[in-house]
Parts: sequence; structure tokens; C-alpha cells
Amino acid sequence: MDYFLGIDTSTTSSKALLIDSNGEVIAVASSPHTLQTPKPLWSEQNPLEWWDAVSASIKSVLEKAGVSGERVVAVGLTGQMHGLVLLDKAGNVLRPAILWNDQRTQSQCDEIHRRIGKEKFIQITGNVALTGFTAPKILWVQENEPEVYAKAKHVLLPKDYIRLKLTGEYAMDKADGAGTVLFDLKLRNWSAEVLSALGIDAAWMPRTFEGTEFTGHITEEAAALTGLKVGTPIAAGGGDQAAQAVGVGAVEAGIVGLTVGTSGVIFATTPSALIEPEGRLHAFCHAVPGMWHFMGVMLSAAGSLQWYRDTLAPDVSFDDLAKEAESAPAGCEGLLFLPYLSGERTPYPDPLARGSFIGLTLRHTRAHMTRAVLDGVAFGLKDSFTLIQNAGLGEITQVRASGGGTKGALWRQILASVLEAELVTVNTSEGAAFGAALLAGVGAGAWADVPTACKETVRITGQTLPDDEQMKVYRKMYPIYQDLYPTLKSSFAKLSST
Ligand code: XUL
Repeated sequence: MDYFLGIDTSTTSSKALLIDSNGEVIAVASSPHTLQTPKPLWSEQNPLEWWDAVSASIKSVLEKAGVSGERVVAVGLTGQMHGLVLLDKAGNVLRPAILWNDQRTQSQCDEIHRRIGKEKFIQITGNVALTGFTAPKILWVQENEPEVYAKAKHVLLPKDYIRLKLTGEYAMDKADGAGTVLFDLKLRNWSAEVLSALGIDAAWMPRTFEGTEFTGHITEEAAALTGLKVGTPIAAGGGDQAAQAVGVGAVEAGIVGLTVGTSGVIFATTPSALIEPEGRLHAFCHAVPGMWHFMGVMLSAAGSLQWYRDTLAPDVSFDDLAKEAESAPAGCEGLLFLPYLSGERTPYPDPLARGSFIGLTLRHTRAHMTRAVLDGVAFGLKDSFTLIQNAGLGEITQVRASGGGTKGALWRQILASVLEAELVTVNTSEGAAFGAALLAGVGAGAWADVPTACKETVRITGQTLPDDEQMKVYRKMYPIYQDLYPTLKSSFAKLSST
């Protein structure tokens, strides 16, 4: 039997997942990361900590599975997108990585639009410059840490730093490449025009590869640390959202992915480099060779529930909170929650947006407040879902739900009723790592292409239909929710400067 390994360097942990050539998951191992927030709006990690976590996880997954590294045919990589890893000539880390959820770069985003012109920037990259993306982070270092910038010779993303440690090669997949917003979306490669306008040396950017292409091989040093065989090929893989889509089989038009993890994502495959004219949806390359995708991202989805539980009910389990919330009616008797706890991206790109409960009365209990959080996240996701429904992609035939937040029946039911769509769940709960392993398998020839690999390994395990009574209530509540951000926007900005 052949085996394939998927490695996911997420924000919270690094995970190694081993599958066999039937796509069965044999073992999973993970090691946690720490996160540093040295100043308000900042979010950083030490890349060396990722590498320690990855090498420990690979060792541990092989041990758990009782599989020798000799039998791992190929490895695929995935991880948190957009994080800036700046390296010197010898590949040494120059400063902590600035992560996807760091919000310090609004003035650099404005500067990018000023230099290139917002419309032109959208035409080239498919996106507006947002604080989450990589390009403004590079400008921030240029402006604020010139001594670091002067030593820089390589720009990588988190999973590509792991690739460097595994193979000694500087390389990147096209899905994550597009997420830097330094890409020409149509060309699926670096935009000379954008790089030059931002004063970024093109030689710093690595070669980019389609998700299933091999980018290098395990070195002796990496083999000694991980237990993998010297020479094992490493597939390009994909940023976590594109790999997640592969992992749940959202690889063709009509099948939309809905992920409720820390962030919340609505993901739709597109057959060409389509863009949303105002750049409200992200438009990136897919990890499926030659395909693209749209994506709406809310920054605090299950992250909102996590914050709520940790802050207001630290002794109550998520299951017990959900049980309690079932006693509150849909719409929570006029209580709404805005989930903008770490600012927002889609549809309101605003790092200063804030979370809020609106409509509290003496009648409201913790059950109402918990349910309001679940409802509010579902409304936020509906904003992205609606943009994708209106993006001219044709009918959405299926919504594949994944991520920790979709494990509970109550939240799935709320999501189905708010989105007014049937949700299906799939057997592959470790989406992104599983997707990365499938990309490696396709690269090694175990499956003819990515859609075939998905058809042969991803199975539907359940469905949730919208509830008519709930839909009636949510149709009344959603327009009220939609009014709130525009109404409160300027108050949020003022609160941030107090
Ligand atoms: C996607 C994004 C997040 C991170 C989380 O654009 O920023 O999903 O990739 O890991």
C-alpha cells in the first residue's frame, strides 16, 4: 500500500495527516503553536515554532500509524494564507511572521490603491488591498523597519517556509501566491507591474507551481528530523482555503464550500479568472490546476463563539451552551449579534469594525445571547453567500459544510435556514490537510486529476434542510442585521481612537 502525507500549518497548530491510496485516513498528529499580539491589531508567530511543530507531528503520525517513512510516496503542504515570512540571503528568519489576521496595515493598503489605482489593482490582482493580505505587510516593513527590509532577500508564506525546511527550495503554490495580491490573476504568476509599483524586488519572490506539481524533495537533514525518506517529493499544495475546498470536494462550479472555523468562508470554484468588479469577494487561483475561485471571508465565525464562551461562560462546554441556546427561538426575540470581533473582510473590509449585541432587553437570557451569536455568524456568512449567488456563476447545486462550527446540529440548522440552502456534510473532517494529501497523491499519479481524487474519496454523510418557520423569522431579521454595520461604522471608528 502507498501512503500520502498532508501537512497543515494553521494558526493554532501544525498537523500531519496520513492517508492511504484509497483515501482512507490512517492517522493524524498535531502540535500547538503560540500566537503573539505585541500591540493592538498585531498578530505574529515565530516560523521556527511552526517547523518544530511540523517535524514533531510528522514523526508522531508515522509512529501512530506504524508506517515507515519509506512508504510515504509524496507529501502535500497547506497552511494559513497571507502570512509574511521575510528571510535573509541564507534563509534566516528576519522578524516574526505577520499573520493573516494582523490588522496594522490600513495605511499601506490605502497607499497601494493610491500608487496603482484601486480599479487597476482589482483588474490585475482580482482583489482590493486588504490588511489581511501579504503585499501591505511588505510595505509596512519597508516603512517601519528599514533595517530589516535592507537585509530581506526572500518572501515566503507560512507553508512555504516549511517547504524550505523540508526541501531547501524556495517555492510557492499558485493559490497562496494569488493571496499575496502581488499576482496577475489571469497569468497565475507574479505581476511585474504591481511588484515594481510597490518597489518590491521580483527576485525575492519564489517560483510558483500548480497545486499537484512537485516543488522539491526531502533533504537528508529533514529526513533525519521527521522520519521521512530522503528524496520524497513535496507537492506544491495550496493555501488552507483552496486545500480545504479540495478536501471537501468543492472543486467544480455549483458545489460551494462553507467553512465555519475560527474564520468563516464561503468558497466557489470558477472556471476562469472572474472578478467581482468592486473586489468585495476575494478572487484567487484554486489549488486545482488551471482553475480559480471566489471566496468571502468573515474573520470571527466559530472564533466569535469561542470568545463568547471563554469570556462569559468559561465553565460551560460548547455542547451544553448549544443545548441551552436551543430553548431560545430563532431571531432571539429581537436580539442581534454583530460578529466583527477582529474587524471584518467580507463584505465590509474594515479593521476597525467591532462586535456588538444589539437589542438587549430584561427578557433576554444567556440562551438568547448564545443563539444570537450563532444567528449573527450565519447572517455574516449570508452576506458572502449572496455575493457569490449574484456573481454570475450559475446555480449553486450543493453547499458542503465543514469546520468545527458545523459539527453541532443547532448551528447547521440555523445556517441552512438563514442561507435558505440545503447543507451537506462530508466524511473528511480534516479538510485542508486531507486536501493537501490528495494533491500529493494526484501529483504522484495515484488519481488522474483532482476532481477524480475527490469523487473517489469524499462521501456525503448527512444533510440539513432549511426550516420553513425559521426562514420566515430570519427573512425579517436579516435586513435589520444588514442595516447595522452602515449605521454603526463611524461609531466603531471613533471607539477605536478613544
Ligand atoms: C483566507 C484567510 C484565512 C487564513 C486562516 O483568506 O485569511 O482563512 O488562511 O488560516
